[in-house]
Amino acid sequence: MKILVIHGPNLNLLGKREPEVYGCTTLDEINQQICELSKDLGIEAEIFQSNSEGEIVDAIQKKTYNLLIINPAAYTHTSVAIRDAISAVGRPAIEVHISNIHKREDFRKTSYIAGVATGQISGLGAEGYLLAVRASQKILNG
Ligand code: DQA
Repeated sequence: MKILVIHGPNLNLLGKREPEVYGCTTLDEINQQICELSKDLGIEAEIFQSNSEGEIVDAIQKKTYNLLIINPAAYTHTSVAIRDAISAVGRPAIEVHISNIHKREDFRKTSYIAGVATGQISGLGAEGYLLAVRASQKILNG
């Protein structure tokens, strides 16, 4: 069982970027927690970060995973291409946001991804990724 975790644009800056919104945990620290939990649960995890929409679409299309966990970051609110890629591959996808996108500016309340995702986790900080890993085990094992 393999999951692909995709972090979208600017998430490479976590820890330094608006800590009052996104917290002080760095992306490396989050990735380490994802790897440790996945290992404990017997799940293989591949992790990918990109600031480029096309690279994210390419990674989704590779279909080398059973389930996708994705924080599309700003592309959440704009990207028909990422939505279509998730739809096209037909793999379950969990959308994760560190901040609560429904409590912020109006433009963040619309997710192009939610309609093709199995579920969305928003506003629980870095813990959201770990909840998504736990949920992925349940989704894949039925
Ligand atoms: C985000 C929320 C998005 O609105 C924003 O553009 C991000 C991060 C989050 O994790 O809270 O870059 O996806």
